[in-house]
Amino acid sequence: MRIQTGIEGFDGLVQGGLLSERVYLISGPPGCGKTTFCVQYLAHGAALGEVGLYVSLLECPQNIINDMSNYSMNVVNLIKMQKLLFADLGPRLEYGFIDEFSEYVTPDYEVGRSAVEHEAPSPATVFKEIAAYVAEYNVKRLVIDSVSAIRFTSKDVTLQEKEMTRFIRNLKKLGCTTILISEMTDPTAYSTEQFAAHGVIFMHNFLYDKTMTRAIQIIKMRGTKHDCNLRNVAFTDKGLAVSDLLD
Ligand SMILES: Nc1ncnc2c1ncn2[C@@H]1O[C@H](COP(=O)(O)OP(=O)(O)OP(=O)(O)O)[C@@H](O)[C@H]1O
Ligand SMILES: [Mg+2]
Repeated sequence: MRIQTGIEGFDGLVQGGLLSERVYLISGPPGCGKTTFCVQYLAHGAALGEVGLYVSLLECPQNIINDMSNYSMNVVNLIKMQKLLFADLGPRLEYGFIDEFSEYVTPDYEVGRSAVEHEAPSPATVFKEIAAYVAEYNVKRLVIDSVSAIRFTSKDVTLQEKEMTRFIRNLKKLGCTTILISEMTDPTAYSTEQFAAHGVIFMHNFLYDKTMTRAIQIIKMRGTKHDCNLRNVAFTDKGLAVSDLLD
């Protein structure tokens, strides 16, 4: 079954949409439109009655909601209807939290305390929380922003690779059509996530003929005949719109 993203000009590049219940990766540099692409994808599904969940590990969801409310995606109403959900699964403790309580903590716990304050959510804990949301709200479209935020919870690179593979394998069994956001800026710097995902989309933002140009490119899409070229991307009132080939 094909899942329409609803992004103007995109679905036609991938035989009508994304194959359902698979895991995709969208990568690109800062401000290239990753969040916009993903909220548009969720809002399109939500308008069709499919519950969408945006898991934020970096940014406060309220900021994302405010920014996306500038577009005609009907984000606020879809949230009120519980068809579009935002979950903040980022680090819980803010700077200063421990400071306020320092006088009550004995010096023996110094090391433990600083470890707790800097603790980031691990792939396993994030997965468990996501699975609970998916079951409770019957989530069909899932976005995780971003995998980079949970990738570096271990200093051991081998362990990182193993954990990411395990995380993606588990996501594949959730029954959702999932898009993972990655901040990776070089499409040729291959990562575990790129190999493990069913599809990889790259967004570009670069200087071209003295003008900053935005483009999108489908790097891989298993089981699908797809366009491989750089396509122009514009921000419109509706969100992103993909158009002609970059010449
Ligand atoms: N109302 C608007 N109209 C046109 N373009 C906009 C509008 N609002 C934001 N933008 C563009 O969208 C960009 C942000 O898009 P988005 O948040 O989707 O990017 P991102 O790839 O998720 O960024 P980050 O890596 O910081 O998370 C801004 O840098 C700006 O260029
Ligand atoms: Mg973003």
